[in-house]
Amino acid sequence: MRLVRVGGADAWAQWVAEHVIAHLQQQPALKLCLPTGLTPVPVYARLVQAVRAGRVSFAQAAVVLLDEFGGVAPADPGRCDQMLRRFLLDQVDLRPSAFHRLDLSGDIDAACRAHEAAVGEGCDLALLGVGTNGHIGMNEPGTAADSLTRRVDLAPETTAASARYFSHDELPTWGVTMGIGTIRRSREVLVLATGAGKAAIVRRIVEGPITPDVPATLLADHPASMLVVDEDAAAQL
Ligand code: PGA
Repeated sequence: MRLVRVGGADAWAQWVAEHVIAHLQQQPALKLCLPTGLTPVPVYARLVQAVRAGRVSFAQAAVVLLDEFGGVAPADPGRCDQMLRRFLLDQVDLRPSAFHRLDLSGDIDAACRAHEAAVGEGCDLALLGVGTNGHIGMNEPGTAADSLTRRVDLAPETTAASARYFSHDELPTWGVTMGIGTIRRSREVLVLATGAGKAAIVRRIVEGPITPDVPATLLADHPASMLVVDEDAAAQL
């Protein structure tokens, strides 16, 4: 996994956004895996600006959602699909049918199979956040490298961390996530980390062994993977 250190928060967000824009310009029918969480929010703001400025378009692209919280009402603003719509999709020209969300209201196994089918041979580009425990999506410590889209229990710290997305106290304890194997089918993978709160896990990813205990390390031997960090997240390297 290539380490990319890019200055402060603004320069970091600009770098990641320009990387996505370059991919979309070269391959308008790009299939993207996109995460939610707070890390990508400034990147999405720049992508919205670029679409408004006519520099790039999502009209031929497809977006596959990385993961979704279970047991949360469909219209809850803290749901992953709602967050991605709010910060990006509602403001760009992606066709509604080209957004592959995770509908967890019915048969979960069927939803997982449908998501694997949407990923197919793999996304062209996957953006990923990383949790302070090294999780990728909702692939918590202990995840197998060949795992596929499935229902998972959240680590207690992930449930606690989700409080910043929700305006109520009923926090999710489970979810459905693309597996590490699903993500590894991507042509290119960008693991994103910003801020001092991610500095310790960034050090474990960069300097520690490849281990299911730190799921982000299971992407380290992907042939086109990058860990893109700002100066605060790189502070312990
Ligand atoms: P964050 O979440 O971007 O809100 O820090 C990342 C994650 O836990 O996967």
